[in-house]
Amino acid sequence: MVKNRIYLSLAHIGAHEQDFVRQAFDTNWIAPLGPNVDAFEQDLADFLGNNCRVAALNTGTAALHLGLILLGVQAGDEVLCQSFTFSASANPIVYQGATPVFIDSEKDSWNLSPEHLERAIKDRMKHGKKPKAILPVHLYGMPADMDAILSIAGRFEIPVLEDAAEALGSRYKGACCGTFGELAVLSFNGNKIITTSSGGALVSGKESYIREACFLATQARDDALHYQHSQIGYNYRLSNVLAGIGRGQMLVLPERVAQRRKINQFYRNRLSGIEGIRFQTEPSPDYYSNYWLTSLLVDPEKTGGLTREDLRLALEKANIESRPLWKPMHLQPVFADCPFYGDGTSESLFNNGLCLPSGTLLTEEELNRVVEVIESNKFKCKTFDYV
Ligand SMILES: Cc1ncc(COP(=O)(O)O)c(C=O)c1O
Repeated sequence: MVKNRIYLSLAHIGAHEQDFVRQAFDTNWIAPLGPNVDAFEQDLADFLGNNCRVAALNTGTAALHLGLILLGVQAGDEVLCQSFTFSASANPIVYQGATPVFIDSEKDSWNLSPEHLERAIKDRMKHGKKPKAILPVHLYGMPADMDAILSIAGRFEIPVLEDAAEALGSRYKGACCGTFGELAVLSFNGNKIITTSSGGALVSGKESYIREACFLATQARDDALHYQHSQIGYNYRLSNVLAGIGRGQMLVLPERVAQRRKINQFYRNRLSGIEGIRFQTEPSPDYYSNYWLTSLLVDPEKTGGLTREDLRLALEKANIESRPLWKPMHLQPVFADCPFYGDGTSESLFNNGLCLPSGTLLTEEELNRVVEVIESNKFKCKTFDYV
């Protein structure tokens, strides 16, 4: 008998989301503004700390787009972007007519390599082109090496737009991811640690940026009674109905972070003894990941030829969803002509890495099913004897 499908990361709704959504209906605030939007922004700002301000938007992608606009990225500019990421990090650079310059990862955090970042800046400047922004990503919730990245950014006076879409609740040296860059981005897509079904936010310590983001996100309407526009705007604000879901989700965020970390620990306890399997791991106590997705590497040289694709197929056969790590942007056909600085690290991560089911709705029985497939006799016979 085929067992129920186990998914990678499903939305997990708490006890109060519907109350806030009902309030929106009861008060007829069915608009991309209203009390839920204001309160959700405040909840996020309180959670992130560091005096940051927040603009709630309809996607993380929209937040990245506005972030680039606020940093003055224009046609012909270059933006240094982590290659090992989801395409949404890079696409808005192209919306602006700018060129992404992709930077490889470092082996510890799997995020933006400070070494290749510095090399790229020097090389682009040598060719007369100073990059307009640096876009690091905290992939799967793991913080990037922000000290090194900010130090380079400061030295060359290039602003940082931090992609914390996957990292709400993660910390670096005690501070929340999303509070390091001039601007930062969060996502509340359906698969994220908390969700508004679709949604995002732009975060900054500078109130002027957030005011400008809200202006641009509501069609850049001038302060006039009639509808007057002096610049091009966007329709990027979050709906008050969806912000109601966000308010409910904020009540359970700390619990969700603890649950994802517990799931990560469960996999580690059960699987890290297996030769050839290595988890994405906090490089030092400075790093605190929300472990949005537990991710591992399979080393075929140590597993006697077993690859991550063998593992993925075995899980799929048991009706369990898993996913290869993001295919780096410099290997994507659409970005084939963009410059790249690196040494093959992200390509190797992509070739050997897999994300395991990590959603907080997973039951202990389901988690056991996942590890049992990896450990099971069937899997061993079909591919490789782990023991
Ligand atoms: C790293 C990263 N950046 C940006 C985004 C874009 O967020 P959204 O889907 O809310 O547009 C996502 C997620 O979808 C993401 O994982």
